[in-house]
Amino acid sequence: MAGNVSEPGSRILGTGHYLPSKILTNQDLEKVMDTTDEWIVSRSGIRQRHIAAPEQASSDLATQAAQRALEAAGISAKDLDLIIVGTVTPDLPLPSTAMFVQRNLGTRKDCPGFDLTAACAGFIYGLSIADAFIRSGFATHVLVIGVELLSRIINWEDRSTCVLFGDGAGAVVVGPATGDGRGVLSTHIYGDGSMIDALKIPGGGSRMPFSQEVLNNKLHLVQMVGVDVFKYAVKALTASVQTALAKNHLAPSDVDWVIPHQANLRILEAVQHRTGIPKERFFINIDQTANTSSASVPIALDQAVRAGKVLPGQSLVFCALGGGIAWGSALVRW
Ligand SMILES: CC(C)(COP(=O)(O)OP(=O)(O)OC[C@H]1O[C@@H](n2cnc3c(N)ncnc32)[C@H](O)[C@@H]1OP(=O)(O)O)[C@@H](O)C(=O)NCCC(=O)NCCS
Repeated sequence: MAGNVSEPGSRILGTGHYLPSKILTNQDLEKVMDTTDEWIVSRSGIRQRHIAAPEQASSDLATQAAQRALEAAGISAKDLDLIIVGTVTPDLPLPSTAMFVQRNLGTRKDCPGFDLTAACAGFIYGLSIADAFIRSGFATHVLVIGVELLSRIINWEDRSTCVLFGDGAGAVVVGPATGDGRGVLSTHIYGDGSMIDALKIPGGGSRMPFSQEVLNNKLHLVQMVGVDVFKYAVKALTASVQTALAKNHLAPSDVDWVIPHQANLRILEAVQHRTGIPKERFFINIDQTANTSSASVPIALDQAVRAGKVLPGQSLVFCALGGGIAWGSALVRW
């Protein structure tokens, strides 16, 4: 599905991110499981990940990122019309994490908000929805957050998955475009339910309610067929980037920055090779953050913006893929 290939209707007004202060390095993992720094770096590019403090929940990380994004956008929480939180690690199954964020930020009391489950594509899905709401006149300012506490849902006894993930939050404030050609040019979101089994948490939902058996068999934790996700990611991410370029009549050489989901450096190297976009144009932070799922793109975006790498008028491509399988891309003129 592709939205809005025309003049931008919305623009990212401000970005923010938050990473918990505790860092868990590959060397730390070597001490507690049968793995090596060499294996993790060579297979994934990851050197460390951030881990939330026991008292922190997703909304705490999300609120910090959101406050930074609001400050950067120069608007008050009271100006928000909608809060979208991409997450697979909500504070509670009910109510939404968005309501915790709403309360923490002190928005208008009636500001709507909801959680969005598209795994690692959660931020791109959220941006697509924000853009559509602003274009349609339903909202003026939308807060889009990606937040995950993956350390709480990974199986620390499964070395093939647990080394890949980390915690964090990223946020953007989206507002109306101002007619100068800058803003969200197009968004492209996709899903393939035939791949449900490649990446899932089998227990704890309505299909298999939480029970002693779920707990004993660790069915409330992430299960992943890494090789299947890897192969799918290379093809789907490449295609989604190419679609975003084609719809906007841009060549790979026109791209100033790709802000990709940081799941695996080797996936990104394959996407670089297949799209022909040079690797220097990919903003990479996976070595520092590992895979933070829906938080990954907005964290990377905020880091790139605050480092002064992203300049007005530049062409940015966002892309992400995760459980579902759900994936997508967006083209933004900064
Ligand atoms: C998970 C992933 C890194 C594994 O890389 P790979 O090259 O496919 O490695 P394999 O799964 O073939 O494992 C190779 C060996 O390393 C071992 N291994 C797995 N995890 C290990 C670890 N942390 N440390 C050391 N060895 C490990 C395996 O047991 C296997 O050993 P064997 O050959 O004796 O059976 C890779 O498949 C991947 O990144 N997939 C995509 C995952 C992803 O990004 N998911 C999220 C998308 S949002």
